[in-house]
Amino acid sequence: MSDSNNNLIYILNGPNLNLLGTREVSIYGATTLEDIKNLSTQKASKLGYQCDFRQTNTEGELVDWIQEGGRQAAGIILNAAAYTHTSIAVHDAVAAINVPVIELHLSNIFAREDYRHHSYVSDVSAGVICGFGANGYALAVTALVDLLQQGS
Ligand code: DQA
Repeated sequence: MSDSNNNLIYILNGPNLNLLGTREVSIYGATTLEDIKNLSTQKASKLGYQCDFRQTNTEGELVDWIQEGGRQAAGIILNAAAYTHTSIAVHDAVAAINVPVIELHLSNIFAREDYRHHSYVSDVSAGVICGFGANGYALAVTALVDLLQQGS
């Protein structure tokens, strides 16, 4: 039996996103991850959802959390950061679960270096949002909730 929570969204963030606010501000903006957590939580709350918002610099931990989200959440918003472009383990974790995943990036990865143009996450995701900075998190919450409500 599934112990999934129909009103819970996991928002999972990969390596170096803990440095938002000071990291390459011209690319990622000045908004901190704490600010992004707050804006995501507020957007979700308005739509009747709760967020479990996390960040890790470790690939295996991200894989564990994707699996956990597959069991416990209604859906996942995933900014896998650099693991997007390198991790077959993250791809396989997303492929293995049965809840929708929205791939998210602050920057427009297609307008950047060639090595960012390939994602191991896109083909197993419900959709991709990139290039809208911190606001992308609010857009992703809206998109995921719409998707979940269409399916219910
Ligand atoms: C990122 C884009 C990735 O290419 C990069 O490695 C990141 C952040 C983004 O949110 O724009 O760390 O996922």
